Amino acid sequence: MNKAQKYILIVGGAGYIGAHANKILASEGYETIVLDNLSYGHIDFVQWGKFIQGNIADPILLDKIFETYPIEVVMHFSAFAYVGESQRNPAKYYQNNVVGTLDLLDAIVRHNIPYFVFSSTCATFGEPQYLPVDEKHRQLPLSPYGKTKLTVEHILKDYAAAYGIKYAILRYFNAAGADPEGMIGEDHDPETHLIPLVLDVALGKREYIEVFGDDYPTKDGTCIRDYIHVNDLAYAHLLAMEWMMHYNQSNDFNLSNGTSFSVKEIIQVAEKVTGKKIPQRITERRAGDPTKIVGSSQKAAVMLNWEPYYKSIEEIMATAWNWHQKCH
Ligand SMILES: NC(=O)c1ccc[n+]([C@@H]2O[C@H](COP(=O)([O-])OP(=O)(O)OC[C@H]3O[C@@H](n4cnc5c(N)ncnc54)[C@H](O)[C@@H]3O)[C@@H](O)[C@H]2O)c1
Repeated sequence: MNKAQKYILIVGGAGYIGAHANKILASEGYETIVLDNLSYGHIDFVQWGKFIQGNIADPILLDKIFETYPIEVVMHFSAFAYVGESQRNPAKYYQNNVVGTLDLLDAIVRHNIPYFVFSSTCATFGEPQYLPVDEKHRQLPLSPYGKTKLTVEHILKDYAAAYGIKYAILRYFNAAGADPEGMIGEDHDPETHLIPLVLDVALGKREYIEVFGDDYPTKDGTCIRDYIHVNDLAYAHLLAMEWMMHYNQSNDFNLSNGTSFSVKEIIQVAEKVTGKKIPQRITERRAGDPTKIVGSSQKAAVMLNWEPYYKSIEEIMATAWNWHQKCH
């Protein structure tokens, strides 16, 4: 694709991961347009390309955008992503994440947009049957949130077969860290992710970090996760998009670091990086939290030549801390 003449529409680009992808795509010379309704995003995260405020469920707006700009690729980051809320209010999640995505996909089909990149999640796998979890692992999500993402994966496969759209499904493990230049970072409201929460405690914004269960069958009793830097995720979008356009094919990729840390280990790393004591309080387990999940990104390594740049959790934490002190 001629970078200067075709546009990438970044839906949800005012959010955490979409904003980092926008920065990297723009730095590679691509023209970007962010569409975001700012339900959870931040206008000051949109520092590259054009910005259009609006909803993916608005077919008139989508028709106007696709008629106005020669868009070649849509990257779809926009979704509601709170596991607990999805259990209490599944309607909100099916409506936005599934019905909204169908509205977006139908507009894409109407306007013959050839390429689609979708933000999926390791939550589509549910409780792992083996580790590390690769793309062949069976998908049995534990929450309505995970189910909405898996439903969209199924829809994409059917739309590709019927309408010829090419897709890249990218399943992120735990996104973490921030732009190394400190221009953008993680700022969810409410925040539920462990790293920004422990950094809030380090900053004195919260009294303690809540640890949901310390009786899991792991080395220290707390849950274990795989943290991947947000910039590594952003680069994977660039590579997956270029792969799709080069081969004119669809595919799915897990994006993870292949390393894993328990909740207590993350707290220790945060204490080391920030130099602050982080008090913790053990509370009940949360429903739907798998004990341990670690991903395999072998497929992305082989096919996309993608490898995480940020391999050390201390480095990931340091980029998050740098941003966190500025924005909070
Ligand atoms: N953060 C993670 O660790 C993680 C892990 C796996 C998958 N994901 C997925 O990655 C994507 C991005 O996650 P994030 O952490 O950047 O979330 P985020 O909430 O920061 O960003 C999502 C953006 O989408 C926008 N949005 C939501 N609904 C919309 C709608 N109907 N129309 C237009 N805009 C809308 C929000 O305003 C927000 O700016 C999500 O799809 C999420 O499910 C995130």
